[in-house]
Amino acid sequence: MSTLKAVRGTRDLLPPETALWNRIEATARAVFARYNFGEIRTPVFEDTALFARGVGEETDIVSKEMYTWEDGERFNELRMIVDWESLNRSDDPTHVQAGRAHVERLSPLLTQLNAIGVQREVTWGVALPGQQLPGSAPEFVCFSPRISGEAISALLKARELAKSDPASHLRQTYVRLRLVVPANAADNRWVERHDVTIEWFEGNFFDSTQSLTLRPENTAGVVRAYIEHGLGESGLLQKLYYIGPQFRRERPQKGRYRQFAQIGAEVIGPPSAGSESPLRDAEVLEMLATLLDELGITGWTLELNSVGSSADRAHYNEALRAALVPVVGQMCGDCQRRAETNPLRVLDCKVAADQPIIETLPVIADSLDEESKKHFAAVTAALDAAGVPYTLNHRLVRGLDYYTRTTFEFTHGGLGAQNALLGGGRYDGLSEMLGGPRAPGIGFAIGEDRLVLTLLAQESASPQKADAFIAPLGDAKDAAALAKMNAAALVLARELRHNGLWIELGDGGFRLKKSFEAAEKTARRIVILGEDELQSGILTVKTFSTGIQAKVPRAELGVFLSE
Ligand code: HAM
Repeated sequence: MSTLKAVRGTRDLLPPETALWNRIEATARAVFARYNFGEIRTPVFEDTALFARGVGEETDIVSKEMYTWEDGERFNELRMIVDWESLNRSDDPTHVQAGRAHVERLSPLLTQLNAIGVQREVTWGVALPGQQLPGSAPEFVCFSPRISGEAISALLKARELAKSDPASHLRQTYVRLRLVVPANAADNRWVERHDVTIEWFEGNFFDSTQSLTLRPENTAGVVRAYIEHGLGESGLLQKLYYIGPQFRRERPQKGRYRQFAQIGAEVIGPPSAGSESPLRDAEVLEMLATLLDELGITGWTLELNSVGSSADRAHYNEALRAALVPVVGQMCGDCQRRAETNPLRVLDCKVAADQPIIETLPVIADSLDEESKKHFAAVTAALDAAGVPYTLNHRLVRGLDYYTRTTFEFTHGGLGAQNALLGGGRYDGLSEMLGGPRAPGIGFAIGEDRLVLTLLAQESASPQKADAFIAPLGDAKDAAALAKMNAAALVLARELRHNGLWIELGDGGFRLKKSFEAAEKTARRIVILGEDELQSGILTVKTFSTGIQAKVPRAELGVFLSE
């Protein structure tokens, strides 16, 4: 049997790397708290419409990358029976009459089946005149969403009852059993199982109740929650952060996964709370610079742009549409479609042959109105004052439709092709797009996987080790002595751990050489606990970095190991 593996694009995070993930998350929480952000946790899946409306139907994320499924599908038994009967029914009056008579004769049995709950699944083929040609065997038919043991036993039980019922005219007759289940055209076939004929019947007999999607990003979910809980009614700015998995069906490569983690934050509120102010943009960017610095990420670049108000974007879209007319015929199929539906998304195109054409298209800066220009100038002035470095990138329109005005990305050279550590921007119209009140906002999401990759590539991230490894010296052949020494080691480990030390515990059954090898891999020091040490209360401690071996009284051990 082949062994099962994590699904392509997903992965397990293991120690010691998870310690780094925890450190990143703890640092992010601490920084966010200093800026007065509180945590929000939204569900991992949402109504598909949320992303279609929020992120945009024409974006790569929504059109290609979402994990979407129909949830709560219900088997519509009645619709299947009606369809099936219409195909199997005979209009011949003799058949119709024979069928009716048959059902009348069966009705006492039907009541009986009802009582044992079988009738729910059993429909009487014999009630269908088409099946009741003279000489053909009567048939019990059961309709079920799938081949199930339950449906098969219901049929078998029905036949048993018909045979054992003294009043039944079917006692001496062979009764056929048929289970009808829904099928796609591709697997239409018949088989026999346990004396039951299984018929795959073509058609869609499932009513879907809701289309759901694993969240590809968290901003739409946060804004949905903001609207749903009336968070704007307080009249205050809402400052919310989140840490959690997101899902996109992208082609996996270094720094790009199908399940990945984001650390993000959103500032949103009614305009009266100052949610539109350029100060909010500058504060969020300054917080990001602080967070990356505190994490020890060096060499990041902040790329900044403004995509203007929604009116500016409409103008820009027109300018793009016009500029695309003469050239779009030479571009890829996606671009040809987008040139019609949402020209801005042409700028997301990754096809190499299209890039020279994209270079010649108008830039959005030329479509900004005075208000948007002023807003952007105030953002950059505040960043200059705070000493946060940035570079302007007019092509930075971001791959989600909700952005207005400020957009940004922090990139890092060490990441390779997927060089965006994080991205974000303002989304002044998103709440209204989702049916909520006016609630301008700005936020970002950091790709935590990429943060980890960047830190791992930097020396500061070398894995940490335990403060000490306790190595009891036992005699593997003397079970009682070994148990005594191991118990003493457990007591010592317990004392040290209570003092806040990070301790790995060996085993008296190990040979000393093996204890040393294990200790060197996992800890900074080894503490030897043999019979002598136990008696004298003086322990032997070796520090691996210096190679120095010392005798330390038990009472001083905690202080010694924490140095
Ligand atoms: P985004 O640019 O789509 O923006 O994603 C933000 C970050 O998530 C990216 O810069 C990248 O670091 C990381 N990321 C995206 N896709 C993957 C992937 N497949 N594998 C690994 N990391 C990935 C958003 O998601 C917006 N919601 C950000 C935002 C918040 N805008 C306003 N508020």
